[in-house]
Amino acid sequence: MSDNEIVNLDEQHFIAAGAFCKCYQHPTDLNRCIKVPTSNKKAKKRHLADLKYYRKLHKVKVDLKYIADYFGQCETSLGAGYAYQCIRDHNGDVSQTLENYFKDADAEPQKIYPLLQKLGRYLVENRILISDIHARNILLQKNSQGEITPIIVDGIGDRVAITVLNISPKLAISKIIRRWNRFSRKELDSNAHIT
Ligand SMILES: Nc1ncnc2c1ncn2[C@@H]1O[C@H](COP(=O)(O)OP(=O)(O)OP(=O)(O)O)[C@@H](O)[C@H]1O
Ligand SMILES: [Mg+2]
Repeated sequence: MSDNEIVNLDEQHFIAAGAFCKCYQHPTDLNRCIKVPTSNKKAKKRHLADLKYYRKLHKVKVDLKYIADYFGQCETSLGAGYAYQCIRDHNGDVSQTLENYFKDADAEPQKIYPLLQKLGRYLVENRILISDIHARNILLQKNSQGEITPIIVDGIGDRVAITVLNISPKLAISKIIRRWNRFSRKELDSNAHIT
């Protein structure tokens, strides 16, 4: 498929929606999903800020092992779209959100908290700022051994000020810890705190 071709999307490709975009599976590439901004006034602006942040991460070659990568813009039958790595389990299913996992009767939160803590530390080590981390922005990817890896699909970057790579490392680190622990306190009963 050439870069200029229009990607045909419809409801059969729909994965999930957030407040600012609808996420669709790419029709011919299972490893990609396409986010189409909603009509929310802030949606386009948010996407542009996210893209700018990914550009910085790519430029300094940050290890994106716990973050869904961004591949570029495309035209779709539903308007401008943004292609990302689609997070799937070993069996091909789109991985479930942390929010859905917690709703599950078989959920084992005690097993997930250390993994989330590791994710928080990874953000600090790589100085990846988070602006909007919540349980629908983290997917739990399952491999064939049943092991789980939490992956962030949305909410990185600094949507409120100059992005992290322009601020001092010390300030960036304290910001990441503060925001991560706010998320941990609010949604995980402090069970994935980092210091
Ligand atoms: N890379 C991905 N792979 C698989 N599913 C994804 C991916 N990105 C997003 N999703 C699904 O689509 C939903 C909405 O996507 P996203 O969080 O990017 O939208 P948003 O409108 O920016 O969300 P928010 O309400 O957090 O601002 C996610 O909660 C998740 O279920
Ligand atoms: Mg989201």
